Amino acid sequence: HEVRVFAPATVANMICGFDILGFAVDKPGDEVYMERVAEPGVRIRSIKGDDGRLPLDADRNTVSACVKMLLSDLGLADQLGVEIELTKHMPIGSGLGSSSASTVAGLFAINALLGEPLSREELMPYCVEGERLACGHGHADNVAPALLGGITLIKGYSPLDIQKLPVPEELVAGIVFPQVDVPTRDARQLIKEKVALKDAVVQWGNIAGLIAGLYEKDYDLIGRSMQDVLIEPTRAILIPEFYEMKRIAMEAGALAFGISGSGPSVVAISRGAEAAQQAVDRIQAHLTAHGIDSLQFVSAV
Ligand code: HSE
Repeated sequence: HEVRVFAPATVANMICGFDILGFAVDKPGDEVYMERVAEPGVRIRSIKGDDGRLPLDADRNTVSACVKMLLSDLGLADQLGVEIELTKHMPIGSGLGSSSASTVAGLFAINALLGEPLSREELMPYCVEGERLACGHGHADNVAPALLGGITLIKGYSPLDIQKLPVPEELVAGIVFPQVDVPTRDARQLIKEKVALKDAVVQWGNIAGLIAGLYEKDYDLIGRSMQDVLIEPTRAILIPEFYEMKRIAMEAGALAFGISGSGPSVVAISRGAEAAQQAVDRIQAHLTAHGIDSLQFVSAV
């Protein structure tokens, strides 16, 4: 009658694959505790770790709204009662898939409480809907790795076609979150709708190179493929010290460096934990020297 579910943070885009690539990390992540109660309906009992920023109203909160959607599709909305305790262990608006982790944990929890009527694949459209509620656009590159783990490719959106990709063992993500707020909604509005063909050629070369690198466990190929000529130049403007952080990460031996999701978190993709740790330590020291507070997370991909 009760479950506790953890869902991890995710790094969307994997630098070159806007809206189609993403990976899960070990930590941080969000936790949902869900309990069946006698009175029908979905209610939020408490939210911790959000500095009071998330709505407790079950219709406005993304987690409960998605749970309600699923119950209603299963024809259970009027019969079943659940209460939710949400604990956020990561910052909101950080580019680490914060809303996705909560939504995925909530949907996984209700599915578990019901005896798993839906497969993970069948849960996915509800997760995507949650993303649409959270930021106005239903991208799946955070929810897919949060739900399935590892590295995921959104091969297509209509119909939703998600593929798991191999994870080379030594791939480590060093993440730094400079503590400025960049809501995904805003970070998406900035992006140009049209791209130049010559830039598109570079970008799809990079995406294809990255996929080949993952299958071949070719770390050099992975590194030189994780570059973004389409989105990064625009979004970098929102991130303090972006190009300086990139220089520092590459000097520290990272394979690649770029924006995590829609930012402001940045990610140094490295071979081995030591290189990743070096990169994030030096980046943090640089930010501190410039009066910018930050958090760091180092995790295997
Ligand atoms: N692919 C999305 C974006 C991820 O870059 O806007 C948001 O976290």
